[in-house]
Amino acid sequence: MTELKNSQGSPALQRPSPRERLILALDFPSADQAFDLIQRLEGCCQWFKVGLELYLSAGNHLVQALKDLGFSVFLDLKLHDIPNTVAGAVRSVSKLGADLLTVHAGGGLAMLQAAREAASCPNAPKLLAVTVLTSMDASQLAAVGVSGSPAEQVLRLANIAHTAGITGLVCSPEEAARMRRALPGSLLVTPGIRPAGADTGDQKRIATPAAALAAGADYLVVGRPITQAPDPAKAAQQILLEMASVGLPG
Ligand code: C5P
Repeated sequence: MTELKNSQGSPALQRPSPRERLILALDFPSADQAFDLIQRLEGCCQWFKVGLELYLSAGNHLVQALKDLGFSVFLDLKLHDIPNTVAGAVRSVSKLGADLLTVHAGGGLAMLQAAREAASCPNAPKLLAVTVLTSMDASQLAAVGVSGSPAEQVLRLANIAHTAGITGLVCSPEEAARMRRALPGSLLVTPGIRPAGADTGDQKRIATPAAALAAGADYLVVGRPITQAPDPAKAAQQILLEMASVGLPG
């Protein structure tokens, strides 16, 4: 399995390279379109995220094909159900060899503990707890009954995940610095990445690749700024260059 690294506190020589810290979201309706994009990237990405759209259409074969090609796979299924059901789903998915798998922190402590126990078998993916979706702002949170700020809610959910033994967290880059201070050993994965001037789409809590890294993110998830670019390889290279330009605390 790919070694997953918390980038903070690592000596400079051991710090993962930008290419090892960029996760490309393959949000496509078919395996053909996903592999077409991968070919156009000319080898600049090592990590691919398979979300519900692609997983429900191309399934386990696609995950296995990506692994057979030597790529690292983030299976973003955002599991959220009763503990017994989530534990079973984690066990089923563990056979695939994916490197990362998401569960929703909002499922609560018992669900997260059940997921973590189910993920203790040898080939299981490392779990990431999704805190507050990057597409939600304070007013959307308030509308579903959450009165605190997104940052407060992210921290609340991250602490529950931490108590359950899940130290990989998905948050927006806006909360990364606070999370890094509160939970220094956690692996922080941040979607909501938008290079300067890029279309924000449905994302609300966003930052540039450089700002996200400087705030303490370990991995950046990027989709449309690369997949919808006229030249995806060039867009990815620009993001990698921006990531390389960030002087991280040593
Ligand atoms: O295209 P874009 O860069 O907005 O894609 C972001 C990706 O990250 C999407 O695949 C989305 O499902 C995922 N994601 C997210 N916010 C989260 C967790 C995952 O945007 N909190």
